[in-house]
Amino acid sequence: MRTHHCNELRPSHIGETVTLIGWVNTVRDHHGVIFVDLRDREGLTQVVFRPEENGDAATASHKLRDEDVVQITGKVSKRLEGTVNDKIGTGEIEIVASTLVVVNKADVLPFQLDKELSNEDLRMRYRYLDIRRPRMTQNLRTRHRVTKATRDFLDERGFCEIETPILSKSTPEGARDFLVPSRLQPGSFYALPQAPQQYKQLLMVGGMEKYFQIAKCFRDEDLRADRQPEFTQIDIEASFVEQDDIIALVEGLMGRIFKEARGADIPASFDRITYREAMNSYGSDKPDRRFAMHLTDLGEVFAKSTFKVFSGALQSGGTVKAINAKGFSDISTGQVKTLEQIALQAGAKGLAYIQVRGETVDTWRSPITKFLSPEEIEAMKQELNIETGDLILFGAGPWEQVCEILGRVRLACAEMQSLLEGNEELNFLWVTEFPLLAKDEETDRYVAVHHPFTRPLKEDEEKLLKGELSTELRAQAYDVVLNGYELGGGSIRIHEAPLQAAMFKALGISDETAAEEFGHILDAFRFGAPPHGGLALGLDRVVMLICNEQSIREVIAFPKNNKGSDLMSQSPAEVEEKQLRDLRIQVQKKPAAAAVTPQG
Ligand code: AMO
Ligand code: AMP
Repeated sequence: MRTHHCNELRPSHIGETVTLIGWVNTVRDHHGVIFVDLRDREGLTQVVFRPEENGDAATASHKLRDEDVVQITGKVSKRLEGTVNDKIGTGEIEIVASTLVVVNKADVLPFQLDKELSNEDLRMRYRYLDIRRPRMTQNLRTRHRVTKATRDFLDERGFCEIETPILSKSTPEGARDFLVPSRLQPGSFYALPQAPQQYKQLLMVGGMEKYFQIAKCFRDEDLRADRQPEFTQIDIEASFVEQDDIIALVEGLMGRIFKEARGADIPASFDRITYREAMNSYGSDKPDRRFAMHLTDLGEVFAKSTFKVFSGALQSGGTVKAINAKGFSDISTGQVKTLEQIALQAGAKGLAYIQVRGETVDTWRSPITKFLSPEEIEAMKQELNIETGDLILFGAGPWEQVCEILGRVRLACAEMQSLLEGNEELNFLWVTEFPLLAKDEETDRYVAVHHPFTRPLKEDEEKLLKGELSTELRAQAYDVVLNGYELGGGSIRIHEAPLQAAMFKALGISDETAAEEFGHILDAFRFGAPPHGGLALGLDRVVMLICNEQSIREVIAFPKNNKGSDLMSQSPAEVEEKQLRDLRIQVQKKPAAAAVTPQG
């Protein structure tokens, strides 16, 4: 239906007769001469309707409205002196129209496409219109470039894309499952995969050696800007590999993706720090290292302090740490309150601080300096490199809690100080040696930090086999982090039945349950399972960061909102009674409705 797209014609085409088709982006009437910006997914071209060139087309053009679909034939002409638009690729030319076909009229749109819209619900309801905006169109095309680069890169290295079932069995990745009732086996349910974890390991037992999949995953969990109930992983698994092999592969893949989808050159390899270092220095297992503001240990400084908040924490085996937010001594009272709230929500008992307003302590504003000795102040000045203008924030208590609290306060300070505004850096990082086990406070049982197929560090393997359990045991697990976002995570796996059985035991999974839930994996490990490992990247997050977006919803064609709803198709929705009967499912009445029904 066209000879060219709307971002194709240049001065070299002047004189040619062309046909374009697309949407009316804007219509302007200049004393009877109609100017239309015609838009397709590639860009804009200006079309002019002059009564003297073709009276019929010019007359018809008066009736055009935004978003009508039109086909235009005309001659490519040079724009008049002074009317060149250097903001668009076709800005030096215009089409003098000879014919106009109105292919489809458009009603008035529920919102304007050329303005940013803060009402996200409205955008989602008419998502197909939202996608017409150049920003969204661009994001989805970038996403395509990312998956294309991924497939090319992995294919070149011998990886084979294999689909795994969506109707599957629960695999423990730590979230709630979405369930699908079976009609053929009433009372039985499939689980939608939280990840293809077990299948990809079984493909390794199957001898496929190098697997990948752009895989849909489903997790029923609380939603956030970087979490959707249904999201996509670049899922990878390989046999006969060690941690370094997976790390090198993913670094190469990232390099290719960022080059092809963003034109960015990133380092050939990324720094690596252990989980412990990450928590100790940044208070996060996904540290944003584009700014320093390190957590500094003050255990030695305050070991014998008369300030009980500090010495008490140390005496009960805890930690005292502080961060120095350089140049933030003029923080407002409201901002101090906000930081305090953040700390309290993370479990802190308080948030001691010092506003360093001058050289000497008498100029400092702080609720705690009166409790500190001159020696402590001097030592602290050294440790934290305190200068006039600084803001010092303290945490005292159990190590992990203090790290986490100050980690959050650190990010909040950076935000308040706009430390990252305009920062274009791509700061990649590996976090390694995650703990194998964590203690679930409620049940007082161990849970897998990554998932139960993760291999312990060589040094800690014996302890797991012997049942000497603690949260000190480390795993051959690694996360790749970019600018404070966890892009992906993976591990080297357990491939022997006895070690896997020991792991299930550590997690309090009985032999019967293990046989019932994971019998297929334990069986498979008895028939010559190769050593293997892998990783999964959150595709949505990768694309979000490449597109400089703040939410993965901006890079997903049809996302769910924070309540898990698709406002366009109105899902989830109630279903017909008959469908439920077929599934032998009875829906309990909503509590409000139940109240009016006698006996519920
Ligand atoms: P994990 O659970 O760490 O590992 O998931 C891998 C990556 O997937 C992304 N991700 C999400 N993205 C959007 N919305 C969500 N709800 C969501 N949940 C996770 C993150 C995360 O880093 N089977 C293992 C991988 C392995 O061991 O190979 C797994 O799924 O970017
Ligand atoms: P208090 O002696 O409890 O009034 O605390 C004195 C100051 O120390 C207050 O500013 C508290 O916010 C702060 N504070 C109390 N407990 C802690 C803690 N565990 N970590 C950091 N600051 C604390």
